[in-house]
Amino acid sequence: MNIIEELKSNKNLSDEQFKLLLETDTYKEDLFKQADIVRQQVYGKDVYLRGLIEFTNYCKNGCYYCGINCTNKNIKRYRLTKDEILQCCKDGYALGYRTFVLQGGEDPFFTDDIICDIVSAIRQNYKDCAITLSIGEKSKESYLAYFKAGANRFLLRHETANEEHYKKLHPESLSLKNRKQCLFNLKEIGYQVGSGFMVGSPYQTIENIIEDFRFLQELKPDMIGIGPFIPAQNTKFEKFEHGKLNLTLKIISILRLLFPYALIPSTTALGTIDPQGRELGLKSGANVVMPNLSPTKYRNLYTLYDDKICTNEEAAECRGCLERRVSLAGYKVVTDIGNPKTAMYNL
Ligand code: 5AD
Ligand code: FES
Repeated sequence: MNIIEELKSNKNLSDEQFKLLLETDTYKEDLFKQADIVRQQVYGKDVYLRGLIEFTNYCKNGCYYCGINCTNKNIKRYRLTKDEILQCCKDGYALGYRTFVLQGGEDPFFTDDIICDIVSAIRQNYKDCAITLSIGEKSKESYLAYFKAGANRFLLRHETANEEHYKKLHPESLSLKNRKQCLFNLKEIGYQVGSGFMVGSPYQTIENIIEDFRFLQELKPDMIGIGPFIPAQNTKFEKFEHGKLNLTLKIISILRLLFPYALIPSTTALGTIDPQGRELGLKSGANVVMPNLSPTKYRNLYTLYDDKICTNEEAAECRGCLERRVSLAGYKVVTDIGNPKTAMYNL
């Protein structure tokens, strides 16, 4: 059995074998091909849409890589009102979105009561939609309250599964232990959980990436978000290089073979480092795209990293643009809630 077949059937490899896939391109073409075969066995050519609403760029944390971290005094901060958020959902629904992702920094202004109020309002208006939160680390009680208000998915990338590496990316106030605990709490409550990491973040080693695979195998997330690190102005890491396209694509393919049923986005960050990045992501095994639904006037303020694409486009433009790009890549955007497929298949 060759290494790709082994990965496909065992959903596992030794560290040495993973290294071979990550460090060389010997098996790359076969890797992409097999990942696409598995993706099509489970999800066909369908690509799910997630409407991203970036509702606040205030954040109390100081993650060294992130452009909206609290130490950055050079950016203008904004918050959307409840009405503005609801308007984004209304526009998004009309454009065929059946998942709304509320993403923001860890902003103390949005108390649990406020979040619950917003989530309930969306839930009441859109019973056939998924509500995804991406608002960082909270207590289990808070996560439960949002869930009861109607949220059903949560995105929280673990960022890196290695303690030492985690410390190099974050200030002391943040810990990998707590982040992992948050992820397990979310699963216990019943959320569909998304995790993931940046590719090529400062000080990341190949061994770290293998640890990320192993952590994800333990967590068993429904969604896995992977994108290249891209430096952000006015951060500690502004002078570092961005993560590489080739490595990111290989990681997407490996993840598809490890997790045949996972929902894997082809991220905006991937589209930022290469004009064909998102299309290539889809061809390597990704099956989700997350166009922006945020009002254009705030978009250029949600600067997690530099040169982010789509900051001048309206929601409808991104929707149309992605539809074209996805179909040129050989896939099809669908209007569907896009839940993970599981028990029906036995891969
Ligand atoms: N480059 C790429 N991705 C980033 N993120 C934050 N900052 C950057 C950056 N500079 C990612 C993190 C976070 C997600 C919302 O965005 O992985 O979890
Ligand atoms: Fe926004 Fe192409 S997806 S313009």
